Amino acid sequence: MLKNDPLWFKDAIIYEVPVRAFADSNGDGIGDLRGLTEKLDYLQDLGVTAIWTLPFFPSPLRDDGYDIADYRSINSIYGNIEDFQQLLDAAHDRGIRVIIELVVNHTSDKHPWFQRARRAPKGSVERDFYVWSDSADKFPEVRIIFQDFENSNWAWDSVAQAYYWHRFFYHQPDLNYENPAVQDAVLELADFWLSMGVDGMRLDAVPYLCVEEGTNCENLPGTHVFLKKLRGHIDSKYPNRMLLAEANQWPEDAAKYYGAGDECHMNFHFPLMPRLFMALRMEDNFPISDILKQTPSIPNNCQWALFLRNHDELTLEMVSDEDRDYMYKAYAQDPQARINLGIRRRLSPLLGNDRRQIELLNSLLLSLPGTPVLYYGDEIGMGDNIYLGDRNGVRTPMQWTADRNAGFSRTNPQRLYAPVIVDPEYHYETINVEAQQANSNSLWWWMKRLISTRERFQAFGRGSFELLHPENRKVLAFTRTYSGQHILVVANLSRFVQIVELDLSAFNGMVPVEIFGRTKFPAIKEYPYFFSLSPYAFYWFTLQPQQTYIETPKPLSKLPVLTVAGNWKDIFSQAEIKSRLESILPNYLSSFPWFGGKNKVIQSTEITEVIPIDYQQKKLL
Ligand code: GLC
Ligand code: CA
Repeated sequence: MLKNDPLWFKDAIIYEVPVRAFADSNGDGIGDLRGLTEKLDYLQDLGVTAIWTLPFFPSPLRDDGYDIADYRSINSIYGNIEDFQQLLDAAHDRGIRVIIELVVNHTSDKHPWFQRARRAPKGSVERDFYVWSDSADKFPEVRIIFQDFENSNWAWDSVAQAYYWHRFFYHQPDLNYENPAVQDAVLELADFWLSMGVDGMRLDAVPYLCVEEGTNCENLPGTHVFLKKLRGHIDSKYPNRMLLAEANQWPEDAAKYYGAGDECHMNFHFPLMPRLFMALRMEDNFPISDILKQTPSIPNNCQWALFLRNHDELTLEMVSDEDRDYMYKAYAQDPQARINLGIRRRLSPLLGNDRRQIELLNSLLLSLPGTPVLYYGDEIGMGDNIYLGDRNGVRTPMQWTADRNAGFSRTNPQRLYAPVIVDPEYHYETINVEAQQANSNSLWWWMKRLISTRERFQAFGRGSFELLHPENRKVLAFTRTYSGQHILVVANLSRFVQIVELDLSAFNGMVPVEIFGRTKFPAIKEYPYFFSLSPYAFYWFTLQPQQTYIETPKPLSKLPVLTVAGNWKDIFSQAEIKSRLESILPNYLSSFPWFGGKNKVIQSTEITEVIPIDYQQKKLL
């Protein structure tokens, strides 16, 4: 069941899943909605609280479904509307929310709106669903995004006898947001899916909605006006829904998609992502600390979406030319791994299959300010296939078992929508869910533990963020604080042992307790706090007031006496007396032979429920 909380996305663990790649229920070689529904238990077990499904609408599939031909139904290769409703219900039963795609910058050229537009008279409402021009020279300031595939943002349409505008593939004409009929149509699409119960929508390519001469046609005021309208519309009709912007922009521009808390709830932190990889390879916290310093603070009801990898190339659009060269050198020596302005690789191959680096980056993903978005398969360290063309190499079938087709499908292997990974290092016979679930030291188990640990501390999702400034820049350190809960994160970005001194004087007197092993560290004093860190080590601590520690419980020779005025039963109801009782319980409990935890450090005791027993009645029995 879902919690009634409009800010649910702040505590979420989001899992990005292409329906096509996850599980094939009917043996046709293509993953489908029923397959995904069958795997919800798996996702729940991993600790996922929201899934983000990639486009599953009718489409020519020339951009993996981001070229939509009909927004109101389901591509029959994936199932039908009933299957989707079932997925939604089954997810909600498990407390998992569902985020779908609202791809409304552009449609497929096969969409009836485009087919109608190209035949409609010039200047008509129907024609003006798209952006037309008599020449291909308009908007010369606008960059080309799919550099490896397109050389203009204009394409000639022989039926319309005019050029139409497209920011992506030529077969994806951009909608015209100057046209009020387009805006109304988009609101209706949102209604269609939200009224079915979807919890969130990712707004694909949202910076490019409006165009205007003399600009680069990105982040224009008109786009923000429309987003406020969309948000207002949704807020007035549906509770607890979320809009997630895909705005691949510099921090200043990206933060504008939150408006004053009245546009999108979430937005991907595109500039941070490549800098995590850069910091790791440079062994320097600067790329991370610098970009976070440049990131404006955002309204309280908003949240960054953090990610390491997704279904696209690791984009290097939001880095300088120098940094891009560095990233190519460090992470994509093989030109085959490069595409557009980015790198088409999965997490594990990027990091040379080094478990320690994979763990380190995931630990940052789950502790930096924002909500983590995991990419399917990265929880088992899946490999990729850079020879598949476009971005298909990071969209191969999920590896469930060592059986035929990696347990993804019962079909003839030749019929699979894409071949499974058989690279010797990442072969599905070794890298698969079943094998990793059978070994508690596997990456899968490690990820599951990391996720459940994060879920124990709301400060990760909701806390403030304070960067520490150690002299040793090979170490990244920061704190997170939320309603009295303090978290300290210390991460060694270097492949060698490091020492670091941190100024923790703001927490003077508190005790760092390592979160995973509950190991208590020496109390924090005025002077710098010293850590030594093994290569790529990361620590998560809670900072606890010292007095909550009952040092070594001593067995009692005499029962403690608690003096209260009035009725003795009040000790359970009056908060102040109850807490006095709770504070003597540790010593009391550890004096009994039956108390299993008596050699452990008891952090605190709490009376959560009081069950009265009628003494008279008991005697009669
Ligand atoms: C977004 C999607 C990408 C797609 C593009 C064009 O950037 O993430 O996969 O190709 O939009 O629709
Ligand atoms: Ca299928």
